Amino acid sequence: MKVVELIEVTKVYELPRGSIKALDNVTVSIEAGEFISVMGPSGSGKTTLLNIIGCLDTPTRGRVVIGGEDINGLDDNQLTRLRRDKIGFVFQQFNLIPTLTALENIEYPMILKGLNGYEKKAKELLLSVGIDLRLGENKPNELSGGEQQRVAIARALANEPDIILADEPTGNLDSKTSKDIMALLKDTNERGKTIIVVTHDPQVASYTSRTFRLVDGRVE
Ligand SMILES: Nc1ncnc2c1ncn2[C@@H]1O[C@H](COP(=O)(O)OP(=O)(O)OP(=O)(O)O)[C@@H](O)[C@H]1O
Ligand SMILES: [Mg+2]
Repeated sequence: MKVVELIEVTKVYELPRGSIKALDNVTVSIEAGEFISVMGPSGSGKTTLLNIIGCLDTPTRGRVVIGGEDINGLDDNQLTRLRRDKIGFVFQQFNLIPTLTALENIEYPMILKGLNGYEKKAKELLLSVGIDLRLGENKPNELSGGEQQRVAIARALANEPDIILADEPTGNLDSKTSKDIMALLKDTNERGKTIIVVTHDPQVASYTSRTFRLVDGRVE
């Protein structure tokens, strides 16, 4: 089953000094359960591609189909719901909420969704990414980078999304910690999640089963 389909997607950013074509007629199709890496030079459109797949941004032209739904037909509320229910995000800077504990960060998306039993589920998620429950009471700045990224992955999994999108998830981590995080993502993929990871690092890409190479907004 296809979980992500982009058909002739072009993204143009209009700026005062002219326009920038961040994506140029991109067509890709991703099957459920794939583990994909997106590589390419800085400015080649990797983040733009991920943001469009994650419905954080919309294309200038072309079609985007997520989980069989054409996003062109959706209003803002429906897009928000699709993003919340089907997609989990992991970022280079972790983006945990600094005033909340690790466990509260994981609980947060479940509370937004109105799920019952979120406290128990958050603990299970924390343990599943290899973090001791005692550390669950720590704030993000009381955790190492690798621990913060594990918490961020647990948070991304909270609403049981089909798709995990990760933009340079190991970009702020040393190479040993990067390997641990990629092993965790691989394990997550083997439990059935479709994962798309943007990276500059061939070591990171080696964990994935297929690589898209972007050059000047085109997939090679
Ligand atoms: N919101 C925006 N407004 C205007 N231009 C943008 C915007 N976002 C991205 N761009 C431009 O689109 C192009 C692609 O940017 P994008 O962030 O997708 O690249 P990238 O491959 O992720 O780069 P990096 O590896 O440095 O993160 C760049 O030329 C960038 O300057
Ligand atoms: Mg980027």
